[in-house]
Amino acid sequence: MELCAIFFSSASSLLLLLLLISANDAVSAAAAPLKFGINYGQIANNLPHPTQVSGLLQSLSVNRVKLYDADPAVLTAFAGTGVEFIVGNEDLHNLTDARNARAWVSQRVQPFLPSTRITCVTVGNEVLGNGKDAAAMQSLLPAMQSVNQALVDLGLSGNVSVTTAHSVNVLSTSYPPSAGAFREDLAEYVRPLLNFLAEIRSPFLVNAYPFFAYKASPSSVSLPYVLFEPNPGVRDPATNLTYDNMLYAQIDAVYAAMKAMGHADDIPVRISETGWPSGGDADEVGANAQNAAKYNGNLMRRIAAGEGTPLRPNVPVDVFVFALFNEDMKPGPASERNYGLFYPNGTPVYNIGFDGASFSPSPTTSTFSSSSRTTSTLLMGVVVLLVAFFL
Ligand SMILES: *[C@@H]1O[C@H](CO)[C@@H](O)[C@H](O)[C@H]1NC(C)=O
Ligand SMILES: *[C@@H]1O[C@H](CO)[C@@H](O)[C@H](O)[C@H]1NC(C)=O
Ligand SMILES: *[C@@H]1O[C@H](CO)[C@@H](O)[C@H](O)[C@H]1NC(C)=O
Repeated sequence: MELCAIFFSSASSLLLLLLLISANDAVSAAAAPLKFGINYGQIANNLPHPTQVSGLLQSLSVNRVKLYDADPAVLTAFAGTGVEFIVGNEDLHNLTDARNARAWVSQRVQPFLPSTRITCVTVGNEVLGNGKDAAAMQSLLPAMQSVNQALVDLGLSGNVSVTTAHSVNVLSTSYPPSAGAFREDLAEYVRPLLNFLAEIRSPFLVNAYPFFAYKASPSSVSLPYVLFEPNPGVRDPATNLTYDNMLYAQIDAVYAAMKAMGHADDIPVRISETGWPSGGDADEVGANAQNAAKYNGNLMRRIAAGEGTPLRPNVPVDVFVFALFNEDMKPGPASERNYGLFYPNGTPVYNIGFDGASFSPSPTTSTFSSSSRTTSTLLMGVVVLLVAFFL
């Protein structure tokens, strides 16, 4: 059945549900948007129309979205919603030419501002450290520079920043975190890139998947450590900081690697992708819905509590979860098609733990328990709403 038809036929029940939900939790439902962003990948042939997705994300209170392109249908659908967008352009070779960069920004970014809040452009995705050819790696910084220049020339640089998203493979060492270092063979690209990010005050984005580390050596990597479950943690002998999860260790390893290149405190680190697959091939150990629910649920709870990493306790961890939907056309192992929080029809792939069970009030702080209850109530409402929207 058509989603639109369903939308109209269920409009009255939706309204009723909304009333019920807001009556239950009027203040919290209206108040705090969730503090994580979400990657809206579209390598699939069965996704709902962007206007439906806009409704879904607003019902979830997700107000930050990352795209891999600058799909005009999506940017149009989110006009006036206040949702913040990171858009992407992976055509590095094209963008090194200033005229192309200017054309792209003026045709694909500028027309949507300010009604759609585009705040950042990522130029390329995981260009360094993943076996790409030297030509691509050499184009990265010039492409970022010409996009930035185009934004400056068009008077948009105060609203829209430029960066790129890295794989953790740019690091040669990530443990202990204090020993974090960039790969020697990438230094010629990384060094000027860091200087540029510092100069234009843009963040260093990293795609980090503790799942890959676990999958590669399930017998030596602790599952509770990668899933943010209770565990004794590991102490960094150089700093005496204790890490109870791998993601935070990876973030602090990036800070250490940047410091070793002379950028001690001038570039923030953000997680442009992280997640856990709910399914995979037989040899993909750990790829299942139970682990995915723990990873994403525990992470969101920590984000809601405003946690920082051991090295930067006062800087809340900033995360874009991967991903909104399962993407059926992604190549590679089965896990690649199973990162979504939702099936394309809007049904949650798993219960993320917002049913209250794993969000029971923390004994430690009242701030924590109240924010997690808010989230829990919100997300419970969302599940109900989703049924109304999509079934
Ligand atoms: C480069 O990108 C621009 C803007 O998106 C496009 O109009 C143009 O055709 C592209 N040029 C080449 C050579 O790919
Ligand atoms: C830039 O940001 C300011 C402040 O948020 C806003 O008022 C303005 O409309 C934005 N301009 C564009 C072009 O997005
Ligand atoms: C770490 O703790 C040990 C034992 O308490 C102490 O001897 C050492 O000086 C500490 N190192 C740092 C860097 O704080």
